[in-house]
Amino acid sequence: MRYDERDADELEGLTQELEARYATAQGANLALDLTRGKPGADQVALSDALDGALAGDFLASDGVDVRNYGGLRGIPEARALGAELLGISPEQVMAAGNSSLSMMHLAFDTAMNDGLNGPPWRELGAVKAICPVPGYDRHFTLTESFGVEMIPVPMDAAGPVMDEVEALVDAEPLAKCMWCVPKHSNPSGCTYSDATVRRIAALGQRSPGFVTLWDNAYAAHDFHFPGAELDDVLAHAVEAGVADSVVLFASTSKISFAGAGIAFVGGSANTLAALEARLAVMTVGPDKVNQLRHARFLNGRLDEHMRAHAALVRPKFEAIERVLAAALGGLGIARWTQPSGGYFVTVNTLPGLAKAVVALAGDAGVRLTPAGATHPYGQDPNDDTIRLAPTFAALDEVETATRTLALCIQLASARRLRAAAQAAQAAQ
Ligand SMILES: Cc1ncc(COP(=O)(O)O)c(C=O)c1O
Repeated sequence: MRYDERDADELEGLTQELEARYATAQGANLALDLTRGKPGADQVALSDALDGALAGDFLASDGVDVRNYGGLRGIPEARALGAELLGISPEQVMAAGNSSLSMMHLAFDTAMNDGLNGPPWRELGAVKAICPVPGYDRHFTLTESFGVEMIPVPMDAAGPVMDEVEALVDAEPLAKCMWCVPKHSNPSGCTYSDATVRRIAALGQRSPGFVTLWDNAYAAHDFHFPGAELDDVLAHAVEAGVADSVVLFASTSKISFAGAGIAFVGGSANTLAALEARLAVMTVGPDKVNQLRHARFLNGRLDEHMRAHAALVRPKFEAIERVLAAALGGLGIARWTQPSGGYFVTVNTLPGLAKAVVALAGDAGVRLTPAGATHPYGQDPNDDTIRLAPTFAALDEVETATRTLALCIQLASARRLRAAAQAAQAAQ
């Protein structure tokens, strides 16, 4: 029975029962952690063959000795790998070091100081960034570090709500960029629809100099194969005559070794030239040895490799779905996403309860990403969004943690509704 259909007495009894169950859960002394989207030890082990993959052969396909300096755009076979991930051609890709986040920083820095698709933002005044929510906290930290104001816009199952994005871009000429995690989004898990991708690709027409930061971190991270299809934002931007308005990112962080993968940036010839010029101030070249061993290890077998990841990751997401459906289904106190790939599930509580639920879970030994982290400045206005990141924990830990979370949602909701019912009774 839905919680909101119970009367005050029923809610009192329910709350007492849940308090007792919560006390028992606390007594179990759990120490579980669903906070960060890190691959599990079994996942990184899938790439152990990287160690020794070069077997003393350090020559890239173009004859370059990868042990030496140089090659800011990356070696051809690494660019081909990035092209496969991003669904574009190798000439549109730069292969870099181990972190796509640092490439996003490079793009932001270039846009701010040198100009990317227009004059430097710092010459325009106080530019603003559009941030679809819920979103990735490190995008927000990066944006804030440049002193750029963030404007949240809502997401639905098709991606950012484009009527709102377009209205914002039209009304606010200094809204000069937007963050996107277009496939198996962090943290909702949605994949942007074709219509949304087309409309995003055309934003550069509405606002000269606009830059879409297209962080395709989960491009190949499907649970089922063939995986979700994502439309080609760069091709649509080219068609719309605004090829320089989209910068794409990806990496092998969740494919090989999270701390020792390779990152990719995609974009037009102008975009890559601008990024390369700024990058040349920072480095003589990327780790091409790592690029070469990744290419030798992954090229031609990416699909097979991602299926092996899926076999390890999918059961954890299925466990979350199973446990949440059994514990919360039909109660009217929570919604949650059922992603077909990626690293995250978003759970929505009743308004105003996410912080309380995360605190209850923490006190019962289950660490969750702080409520609010999914929104700019850590401010979730409805306080209802919780991000679950199950990949690093073992399957039985995911099950136990999710069961505890569900109990905390039940308890927080029952307490809230009981208080409301009692207040309503007192007012009669
Ligand atoms: C959306 C998104 N982008 C980027 C990253 C980090 O990527 P990288 O390891 O390539 O810096 C993550 C990691 O969780 C992520 O979720």
